[in-house]
Amino acid sequence: MSVSKIAIIGFGTVGSGTVELFYKNKDLIEKRSGRQMDIKWICDLRDFPNSQFKDKFTKNFEDIYNDPEITVAAEMIGGKTLAYEFTKRLLSRGVSVVTSNKELVAYHGAELIKLAKENRCNYFFEASVGGGIPIIRPLHQCLAANRIERIAGILNGTTNYILTKMIFDQVSFEQALADAQRLGYAEQDPTADIDGADACRKLCILGSLAFGKHIYPEYVHCSGIRNITLDDLEYVANAGYAVKLIGLIDKTDKGLVATVCPRLVSVNNPLSGVNDVYNAIMIRGDSVGDALFYGRGAGKQATASAVVADIIDAVKHENADIASLTWEDSSDRSFIVPYKSAEVRVYVRLSSPEADSLKGLITTLFGYVDFIPRKHRTQGELAFITPAIEEYQIDKKLALLSEHADVMRKIRLL
Ligand code: HSE
Repeated sequence: MSVSKIAIIGFGTVGSGTVELFYKNKDLIEKRSGRQMDIKWICDLRDFPNSQFKDKFTKNFEDIYNDPEITVAAEMIGGKTLAYEFTKRLLSRGVSVVTSNKELVAYHGAELIKLAKENRCNYFFEASVGGGIPIIRPLHQCLAANRIERIAGILNGTTNYILTKMIFDQVSFEQALADAQRLGYAEQDPTADIDGADACRKLCILGSLAFGKHIYPEYVHCSGIRNITLDDLEYVANAGYAVKLIGLIDKTDKGLVATVCPRLVSVNNPLSGVNDVYNAIMIRGDSVGDALFYGRGAGKQATASAVVADIIDAVKHENADIASLTWEDSSDRSFIVPYKSAEVRVYVRLSSPEADSLKGLITTLFGYVDFIPRKHRTQGELAFITPAIEEYQIDKKLALLSEHADVMRKIRLL
């Protein structure tokens, strides 16, 4: 029996984890794929003189591209310049590509999937969302009979780790971020984690797959956790909420509402208990109801688990594309509804020397509100949660309120 030859492009955290996992479980992997497999090339510009795999290294992508034995390549260099070029060239030659590169899939997924299909190979990206959590395959295979109504997820391990450490360990934002970087969770440029771009890319991938049209990152309202303070976390904990960076797409009669932003999540919602680097994604289908997927959302071994699973699937499906893994490109965002037209409840924290005397005005503006108590509340501060109102209306009311107080924070509820 011939041996399927694999190429690894990028030997960073995920790439090295993939190679290590492949050889650790090679016997099982071959049994499950029904094929003998081996890694022939590892492409990286850096030198790894002490690596046990040093005979496989090349700095030249052309060695892989020109090798007729290679049937599957794993792209783990990230970004959308070199990775895009390499992926297009490999797919055009009929070589299946698997990737953990969420940025590339979020921006070029429709085009690359189409290219793979035209060349009877596959473009797989299970590792691009949720680290080791099986979510891409369940979405287009196990849930294929459903019309999807909602996707709500904690999609970034770094920010979830930071928010958890801040409230439970009373660690500063900067210290928690440094820990996440040390543990290999954060992006090379951690602003992509903190400001929500990474979660946004992952939401785009899930949404495109679930709703059949490419949702580009610029179609999604995106804000990160930079402004969240320990004060906010303590206020909302008193009211029975945790703050999580949530990627959310709701299907409404008018279209899709897509956001990535910090949200208060009630302790009654299982997403509120998802802590540290863990991610969770709740998919609501018209037949299945709510299905929850949970696991390690970042890190070397967890992400390698998904990459190697894709390699196995790609080897099993040589010369046959997986029909259900697809979506159409979209040239405009008319299927996306302005997020501020959706009804939402928000948490508001304000400061004013006369804070308590503003309760009457707040109630007049919003109707019934929940004022949130806090132990050792800072003098002159007030926090409350509004009822569900269209967000445009909320902003108008907050503009009126800001004539009397400094509105320091507005965080939406899930
Ligand atoms: N920086 C990402 C995260 C890595 O923290 O979730 C996994 O995609």
